[in-house]
Amino acid sequence: MVHLCAWIVAVALAQFIEPFWPGLLLIQGFAAGIISLLARLPVWWRWINLLFFPLIGFAQQLAIAPAWYLLALALLLLTQFGALRSRVPLYLSSQRAKAELTRLLPAQPGLQLLDVGSGLGGLLAHLAQARPDLKLSGIESAPLLWLLSRLRLGRRADIRFGDLWQTDLSSYDVVYAFLSPEPMARLWDKTRREMKPGSLFISNSFAVPGVPPDAEVELDDLHRGRLLIWRLS
Ligand SMILES: C[S@@+](CC[C@H](N)C(=O)[O-])C[C@H]1O[C@@H](n2cnc3c(N)ncnc32)[C@H](O)[C@@H]1O
Repeated sequence: MVHLCAWIVAVALAQFIEPFWPGLLLIQGFAAGIISLLARLPVWWRWINLLFFPLIGFAQQLAIAPAWYLLALALLLLTQFGALRSRVPLYLSSQRAKAELTRLLPAQPGLQLLDVGSGLGGLLAHLAQARPDLKLSGIESAPLLWLLSRLRLGRRADIRFGDLWQTDLSSYDVVYAFLSPEPMARLWDKTRREMKPGSLFISNSFAVPGVPPDAEVELDDLHRGRLLIWRLS
């Protein structure tokens, strides 16, 4: 919708100033940026809308072979396709988040931890090194990420390909999630239904609407994240 409005603005302006082709893309991008600002879209959407069409024009000037675009699209689909449905894209826990999580995990040998949406397996790789006594698992729905993380972790973690919503949480002492605001209410319901009393649900940065955590750890990382911790009753 933003770009449709911006396109109308660009076409209307073109009647008066007769801009050259890349110039039209710049006007389109600028209009989309202003509309995003006026519509109070989140900051990253303002930047995406501002830069999207100008970057298309710029990429065209570079005369990149079409096969590279196809390869980029294939990689994007293999790693991010699920995000269209789940609204959870790939981004990685920071070093600070990994260190703080390691610090606050109970010193109980054999503790079972599941990373729901384990991505490239970075968090599990860190824990496997720092706490070899843990039983580590991950569940990941993006095929390429699952494959890469399996190769990376080998036998150090049990990483399954599948959907977190089809995964039974009852055997885990700790469930770690770094997802997005979208699934948090549903995930909270699932943890309450399935996790045993005394177990921990830890969310990196994303709150459960209307349910304050039992503890909170500021991360002071790039995302200004925090670990939100709930003890199940
Ligand atoms: C933000 S990344 C977090 C990666 C990793 N846990 C970390 O902290 O570095 C979220 C991951 O969840 C995965 N994901 C999203 N919805 C999922 C679902 N329903 N089942 C399994 N994985 C899912 C995405 O593919 C993505 O890799």
